Amino acid sequence: MKALSNHRYHILFTFYCVTLMLALTGCNSKKITLSGFQNINPGQPWPDADSVHINAHGGGILFHDNTYYWFGEYKSEHTSSAQVGVNCYSSTDLYNWKPEGVVLPVSDSVGSDIEAGCVMERPKVIYNAKTQQFVLYFHLELKGKGYSAARVGIAVSDKVAGPYTYLRSLRPNAGVWPQNMTEAQKNSSVTMADFSDWWTDDWMAAVHDGLFIRRDFEGGQMSRDMTLFVDDDGKAYHIYSSEENLTLHIAELSDDYLSYTGKYIRVAPGGHNEAPAIFKKDGTYFMITSGCTGWDPNAARLFTAESIWGPWQQHPNPCVGDNADLTFHSQSTYILPVAGKDDAFVFMADRWTPKKPIEASYIWLPIQFENGLPVLKWMDQWNLSIFDESNEL
Ligand code: GAL
Repeated sequence: MKALSNHRYHILFTFYCVTLMLALTGCNSKKITLSGFQNINPGQPWPDADSVHINAHGGGILFHDNTYYWFGEYKSEHTSSAQVGVNCYSSTDLYNWKPEGVVLPVSDSVGSDIEAGCVMERPKVIYNAKTQQFVLYFHLELKGKGYSAARVGIAVSDKVAGPYTYLRSLRPNAGVWPQNMTEAQKNSSVTMADFSDWWTDDWMAAVHDGLFIRRDFEGGQMSRDMTLFVDDDGKAYHIYSSEENLTLHIAELSDDYLSYTGKYIRVAPGGHNEAPAIFKKDGTYFMITSGCTGWDPNAARLFTAESIWGPWQQHPNPCVGDNADLTFHSQSTYILPVAGKDDAFVFMADRWTPKKPIEASYIWLPIQFENGLPVLKWMDQWNLSIFDESNEL
């Protein structure tokens, strides 16, 4: 009897100690490093520190003060329009993410650019070392106007996890010609009125020659799917689908990252590229994009250039293996350089679920290199140790 109660006491005491330990750890949960996950599981639900599937779609990541901040679209159950705003999570290991909350909420004011029900897509944040401000760009469509506004929204904050102050929206580069348009293209008298039908060979040739650039010259160029890129020299670029999603533009931002210098180029005119994601390795710029099929996946495209100003050269689809022609059922959003590791880049993409947007999952894959070019292979599960092995195949 005595032995049994001693034993019971022992169990109770151990239970008490463990509970106390858990409670104390729980109290400090904001300070401790979360260590639940040690892998990335592409396409699977990805619980945050509160066990809720991460809600940061079309996102991008900023590494700041030894922490990764993931910004993305807060998607709702039944609509892809913005009901909440731009969401943020933080992590020190890329596997375990703590919710930082909504950093740029939609507005309640009727007529506001970012009124609830507008479209806020593909948010990206960069840090300006000179102004010490965090600058957020996103694709904005005005409430009730479908995708016709084709604007970029800009917001700033002194703190990485916000709140961000919304500044304005615009169509970039009003009244300025791209660097790589010829005098003949600028002065051409061909207009939209010359075409009763779109998508004919003549129309495509006119698009190639700047039909939409001329149409939108005064009001600024259309700006939809987008990313931001900060180069080694601190210069930042806005890369966006323009000209009715037919042509990508790369536009240089001002020193404070809040406006445009007016220097910009067209990339792959008429090539129908969306979802641009870019990185730089050994002096070469690599850009992965998608084609234009809405929420449905298609084959990724790969471009390289020795200067951000081009020329940009197209290569075959970087994905290989099953479902390579559908980018493993996903669409690019960002390419993340892994902090502290050389030549380690993570391809980030979205597997959209437009019937239930909140359930969309994340396809993150390590970028491998073959003959100097990026290669993407499906993996059910992986972790950063993959970058410790040589990734030049
Ligand atoms: C996709 C685009 C998404 C979203 C969607 C709307 O092509 O990449 O960000 O705009 O179209 O249909």
